[in-house]
Amino acid sequence: MKMKLRRVLAVLMCMTFVLAMAAGCSSGSDSADSDAKEAGDSAADAADGAGVDIKDAKVGISIYQFSDNFMTLYRTELVRYMVDELGFTESNITVQDGKNDQAEQTNQINNFITSGVDIMILNLVQSSSAPQVTDMCKEAGIPVVYINRQPDESESDRWTSEGIKATYIGADARQSGTYQGEEIAETENKGDINGDGKVSYIMVQGDPENIDAQYRTEFSIKALEDAGMETEELLLQRGDWDQAKGQQITQDALTQFGDDVEVVFCNNDAMALGALQAIQAAGRTVGKDIYLVGVDALTDAVQNIVDGKFTGTVFNDYFGQAQGAADLAVKFLNGEEVGAINMVDYIKVTPENAEEILEKIK
Ligand code: BGC
Repeated sequence: MKMKLRRVLAVLMCMTFVLAMAAGCSSGSDSADSDAKEAGDSAADAADGAGVDIKDAKVGISIYQFSDNFMTLYRTELVRYMVDELGFTESNITVQDGKNDQAEQTNQINNFITSGVDIMILNLVQSSSAPQVTDMCKEAGIPVVYINRQPDESESDRWTSEGIKATYIGADARQSGTYQGEEIAETENKGDINGDGKVSYIMVQGDPENIDAQYRTEFSIKALEDAGMETEELLLQRGDWDQAKGQQITQDALTQFGDDVEVVFCNNDAMALGALQAIQAAGRTVGKDIYLVGVDALTDAVQNIVDGKFTGTVFNDYFGQAQGAADLAVKFLNGEEVGAINMVDYIKVTPENAEEILEKIK
């Protein structure tokens, strides 16, 4: 009898061990979690995906600036998806406003480290600070998912070559710029409203430090030129992604250049919505004597396409990016391999598909 009991116990112990191992290798259950804690409890263990249970995982998120319209949609979807669909606990997720100040944001990241988060999702104020931030996270053994503002290629190459647990998810801004240029090239006069053989435009740029702003500025014009049009830049000015600045810049340009302005290119929809206010105040009519394009597909912008007050925009898929960022975070927490760069496609938005896109984003 005694002999039998001992054998049963031995079998049970063996099974528990096998189960714990299996849990540690897969998604990380409670038992895997406590195993990890016993096995050293260092932050590096967590980074190695030593089985942090998703519902217990502490997440530090910092957004470059809460007042940014696009990033507001993005962060709302990010938290919703993590809690509703992936099983994170809302009170374990801390979302900070970087207030467009890198020093402030770096402080927040330091606080995340001190408070022992398991993973960070960061929308840097300045993508040029990625090397410093990555090293801070690496020392602390915390994986990091960068979103929206792409660090330099030399930095992401380093993650791969040095095996650093960092990744980026975004959308290739060259594609969005190209779509903007094509939208103008697809109008009946290819943007040359006054028929003088060239398209005269103003460019309202985002924050020029940002690769999205650089690429959209460059590739929108390139696409128009690739479509055979000559172009003339009347003005290029930074509007920092901000509606009020977009309005002011366009108002001043329309006063200065008047009817010579045939196209207003804006690096995002917030600035394009500002530009529309200035265009209407100047008595100009989009689609008739001026064209206007943005990027993002904010609801108001897409509605304006439906109403014929915007020439076009480009859907910057924040659903895909936010969900992708959260999925990458889970992969890190599970100790899975994660590639350095993850891209989501943009979608061209014109009068043909504006209704359909509106349904998607409403
Ligand atoms: C969006 C902008 C936003 C910026 C923030 C861009 O991808 O198009 O609307 O302001 O990201 O970094």
